[in-house]
Amino acid sequence: MGKPSVRVNANGVELDVKVRGAGEPVLLVHGFPLTGAMWLPAMEHLPTGFTYIVPDLRGHGESTATDSWTMADLADDLAAVLDELEERRRVVLVGLSMGGYVAMEFCRRYEACVRALALVDTRAEADTPAAAEVRFSTAAKVLAEGTAVVANAMAEKLFAPSTPAPLRDYWKHVMLETSSAGMAGSLRAMAGRVDSFPTLRRLRIPVLIVVGAQDVITPPDCAQAMHEAVPQSQLHVMPNVGHMAPVEAPREFAAILGSFLSSLPVKTK
Ligand code: MLT
Repeated sequence: MGKPSVRVNANGVELDVKVRGAGEPVLLVHGFPLTGAMWLPAMEHLPTGFTYIVPDLRGHGESTATDSWTMADLADDLAAVLDELEERRRVVLVGLSMGGYVAMEFCRRYEACVRALALVDTRAEADTPAAAEVRFSTAAKVLAEGTAVVANAMAEKLFAPSTPAPLRDYWKHVMLETSSAGMAGSLRAMAGRVDSFPTLRRLRIPVLIVVGAQDVITPPDCAQAMHEAVPQSQLHVMPNVGHMAPVEAPREFAAILGSFLSSLPVKTK
């Protein structure tokens, strides 16, 4: 995972972005509280002919944080990354969980820039007021007590039961290493996100939806609801996989995403 990155200064933050390959841009957006490195095992198996752009979101991995942010800020950061890389052409957007929330916000703000969308282990609905309240109090606890508050709880839920211990331990370590400010900032941003079903219903682009059959954070019902909201979408339920499809089953995930990418109409521009 120690491969070279570029640094992008945008919107008051410095973002770490990995870029691999050459061709049509594909932007891969990680989940909470993780890093862009979660895409790398699957990327080894994705087709050539694409530029894969993998940022660490604001407050995560090697990217810096600000005092607070919203989903709109995270979407604007992605737009700035594309501008900086001169890739603000129509992009294929791939988001896992929180990355899916950011991807849907990006579609709201920059619809004309999105060529296709892949939503992985995510959901379209906003938090209920009660769920948002829990996020705000968890954010306060993280700032007071540290990242173990979230890392310990999430490590139990991210993976299917059959996932080997070293893989679980590695990603727990990544979560523990996230800064408290980054974790708290993204918890608050997720609490404030809006319902994305109206956005999904409006989309006229190809949409891929992938979920692990054993995902307990954004279960298959969430994927089914998004599939029903987007008539032209395709839904894949991956057996024996939890909330981290590209990490748990990188080859199988890459086969699904790769065939979606290869099926996209050839661009005229
Ligand atoms: C994620 O995996 O990105 C988060 O768990 C999503 C969430 O908490 O809603």
